[in-house]
Amino acid sequence: MFSTKLNLAEKIYSAFNSSFPGCEVGKDDIMSLLTSPPDKAMGDLAMPCFKFAKSLRTSPVNISNTLASALQDIEGIKVESVNGYLNVFIDRNDFFKKTAEKILTQKKDYGKTETGKGKTIVLDYSSPNVAKPFHVGHLGTTVIGHSLKKLFTFAGYNCIGVNHLGDWGTQFGKLIVAYKKWGDEKKVEEGGIDELVALYVKFHEEAEKDPALADQARAHFAALERKEPEETALWEKFIDISIKEYKKTYEQLDIEFDYYTGESFYSDKMPAVIEDMKAKNLLTLNEGASVVELEEYGMPPCLILKTDGATLYPTRDISAALYRKNTFDFHKCIYVTSAAQSLHFAQWFRVMALMGYDWYEDLVHVPYGTVSINGEKLATRTGNVVLLKDLFATATEKAADIMAEKNPALAGNKETAEAVGIGAVIFYYLSANKIRDINFVMQDALNFDGNTGPYAQYTYARTCSIASKAEEMGITPTLSGDVCEDEFVLIKTLSVFPDMIADAIREYEPSIITRYILDICADFNRFYHNCQILSAEDDETKKRRLALTLCTKYTLASALELICMKHPEKI
Ligand code: ARG
Repeated sequence: MFSTKLNLAEKIYSAFNSSFPGCEVGKDDIMSLLTSPPDKAMGDLAMPCFKFAKSLRTSPVNISNTLASALQDIEGIKVESVNGYLNVFIDRNDFFKKTAEKILTQKKDYGKTETGKGKTIVLDYSSPNVAKPFHVGHLGTTVIGHSLKKLFTFAGYNCIGVNHLGDWGTQFGKLIVAYKKWGDEKKVEEGGIDELVALYVKFHEEAEKDPALADQARAHFAALERKEPEETALWEKFIDISIKEYKKTYEQLDIEFDYYTGESFYSDKMPAVIEDMKAKNLLTLNEGASVVELEEYGMPPCLILKTDGATLYPTRDISAALYRKNTFDFHKCIYVTSAAQSLHFAQWFRVMALMGYDWYEDLVHVPYGTVSINGEKLATRTGNVVLLKDLFATATEKAADIMAEKNPALAGNKETAEAVGIGAVIFYYLSANKIRDINFVMQDALNFDGNTGPYAQYTYARTCSIASKAEEMGITPTLSGDVCEDEFVLIKTLSVFPDMIADAIREYEPSIITRYILDICADFNRFYHNCQILSAEDDETKKRRLALTLCTKYTLASALELICMKHPEKI
């Protein structure tokens, strides 16, 4: 039975194959050519056949005529061929009934599939550097990473979220020196990461005057590498303080990680990996450092060991990938970081290939653009970076002000203000393609009338209020009767939710869902303004429009959740 664009594409695909045996038309070609024409006289979906003429060696008119006759007997659709276009008319009432029935039965599971059953995806995301500020630069990896985790989970994959904390390196030697010299336990407990950053900054200021400090730092890091108790205890303290603070932000976003296995976790796994590289003759000396030459692949060498034998960022990533493959036997391991790290990933992925691990193709780097903040200066105590917690706090405050004005009944509701404020930031961030640089403007993100998070949440709240009113009035949904144009447009949009999820997963692109949410909102609000719902002229219409509102409510809730947005029932 015909129900979605994907179904139709499949039918057209088989019509191509039976009418033009051996043709090389792909399903993706059909999907991209199949669109909703502006004029409904041209069908609910239409496909131009011009592109196929050359490879099929026949005229577009002949192609559309042939396909139209092959598609004559499909229940629920009527197909016409007009001047090389294939115009498909959907039996609207039937289409409505089938789609709405599916959504109302599956409720919050609508759109879920078992595509990934039995397959594990490891997602490495957020991963801030310990004792360094958690700033807006981490927003991308945190929300894109978590959204991908939710999308893959929705598609039936077993997902493992790993926070690959930057918790190893010579900077910890410096911090230990600074803490021992100038640190105040109480101040550090209270000030958290800000205080650790201040100590780190002080180290650098003092080290300019006193070069001996650098030697002390090296000695302390060496002691940490030997697992000396004093250094280890301090280092663990820095990690605890940092994670405690990150968790506050993760809680606001409802994010939980399966593992907090930072770079240090792989220290004892690296010697074997280095031996493996040596045995495979991959390491060469380059100005005293051990590297894997990648000139042949148009890249600078991948650094494995420093002159003093210390390991590096790529060494730890390679060890982590091997550990994850052995431990989780992943189908894919996905790394979400800023595009600034693209070369790093390309280099060590190539090293994996050279080491002979053919699964290197299952390692995926998902890069994203940078964020800058405009409009309003958000003061921080740590200098010129904007901390994520400060950005969220400002957004929450502003959202509370707007809500107090719009809906005085909700004034002072901290939870809702936070859902709207933080939601606005996330939505704004996930609206553009991930690789584009974002210029964050608070007023725009919080504009209730724009294409924003608050607007989407507001639309969702509207569906909830209609649902509860219907319940009070004792109105129950039904699926019969003649659907009007606005109802049909909306159900058609709701029907493509599964396709949108598949697209977002294929392209590692949560913004596909964000833009889809805006489509639903536009279609729902048009329907809401043009049609009476609970006060419609007859009972059947009332009940059918309630059913459509419920379908919108379920789909919107799931879609918002997939992009890490909360969706309060009242705004
Ligand atoms: N800690 C790094 C940073 O803040 C990101 C780590 C990304 N993950 C990885 N496996 N390299 O830049």
